Amino acid sequence: MHFTVAIDGPAAAGKGTISRAIAREFGFAHLDTGLLYRAVGMKGGDPIVAARSLSPDDLARDGLRSLAAGEAASRVAVLPEVRAALVDFQRDFARREGGAVLDGRDIGTVICPEAEVKLFVTASAETRARRRWLEAGEDGSYEEVLAQVRARDARDIGRADAPLLAAPDAITLDTTEMTVSQAVEFAKDVIAQRLAERA
Ligand code: C5P
Repeated sequence: MHFTVAIDGPAAAGKGTISRAIAREFGFAHLDTGLLYRAVGMKGGDPIVAARSLSPDDLARDGLRSLAAGEAASRVAVLPEVRAALVDFQRDFARREGGAVLDGRDIGTVICPEAEVKLFVTASAETRARRRWLEAGEDGSYEEVLAQVRARDARDIGRADAPLLAAPDAITLDTTEMTVSQAVEFAKDVIAQRLAERA
């Protein structure tokens, strides 16, 4: 069975938590596509060469979840050659047997426009910055993290190639006023319904 769930949205909106919960619930494989860009950004040297030669070791290195790695990722992610080098791997993953959930910025628009379910998960910049700041162990100031979140949003939304954008047929889920379990339940219901329609 091929069944792809595409989850897009800005940093710290809850995509990762929702994706992991969905993967567990339905037995789907999960790919956090941000990790690919983070690994490219942290590899050093020419980012295009780094993207073309990305290895499992690069994806396992320490520090990929740091704020600095997120920043480096969003800088290399504006390069069309970097994005192009990562397309096939993501598309193969999306169509793997048994179902897959991919979270990122362009999954429903560019990587997998034919995904069976598309969710666009978002939240206010202030809420997302607070979550990131608490996650990072209150390292640095909240204002600094908020400025970074805003800068990253601007770069992701403003880039010419595959900008952060909800697909026209995506369901938007604003998690600003939601608990984690409410957001997860909402996503599970959407997927269960789509799976039932196909059965
Ligand atoms: O989701 P995460 O915060 O790990 O993503 C880091 C950065 O990688 C994003 O800010 C974005 O610039 C880039 N990215 C992307 N396309 C994706 C996933 C991530 O451009 N599918």
